[in-house]
Amino acid sequence: MTEVVVVDATQMRNLGEQVARQLIDGDVVVLTGLLGAGKTTFSQGVGTGLGIEDQIASPTFVVARTHEPGICNLGLMHVDAYRLHSADDLIDLDIDSDSPHITLIEWGESFVQKVTDSWLTVAIDRGNLGDADAPEAGERRVTLVTQGPRWQDRVLEVKL
Ligand SMILES: Nc1ncnc2c1ncn2[C@@H]1O[C@H](COP(=O)(O)OP(=O)(O)OP(=O)(O)O)[C@@H](O)[C@H]1O
Ligand SMILES: [Mg+2]
Repeated sequence: MTEVVVVDATQMRNLGEQVARQLIDGDVVVLTGLLGAGKTTFSQGVGTGLGIEDQIASPTFVVARTHEPGICNLGLMHVDAYRLHSADDLIDLDIDSDSPHITLIEWGESFVQKVTDSWLTVAIDRGNLGDADAPEAGERRVTLVTQGPRWQDRVLEVKL
């Protein structure tokens, strides 16, 4: 488990970028945190880290968006599970497709164990650190936890 304090959106993108560079084909990343915590901001950094050229936006209304691979030859399936009702909906999304890719699931913590045995959880907590008048502003406490056989011999390194 790794815990870091992320002071602003730029640093959150930087964190996403660092994590992305350590991901390999088939990895699943679950992002947790309340509305406006910074899940999509982190995902934008992942897109950059993978060299994906598309702009990464919240897939809230489409549930999932697939981004073609860039220079790292890894595509990105970006899922927003907020509106999903069961793990079956995730299975339908074909996250274990054959083409090399990473899967990022916002709001995915209650479904992920039904579709894989290994994942990285990135939990973003705004806690009491934020400014009540500007709920999107402020520091976030980010906890990274890896789980399952895919991560057995890997050490995730982040340095902000
Ligand atoms: N330390 C920080 N880390 C991340 N985002 C921050 C930080 N400080 C301020 N922000 C701002 O907070 C907002 C986070 O929004 P974002 O869309 O990433 O959240 P989200 O968790 O995906 O929300 P939703 O659940 O609504 O999709 C952005 O406007 C971002 O610029
Ligand atoms: Mg989002």
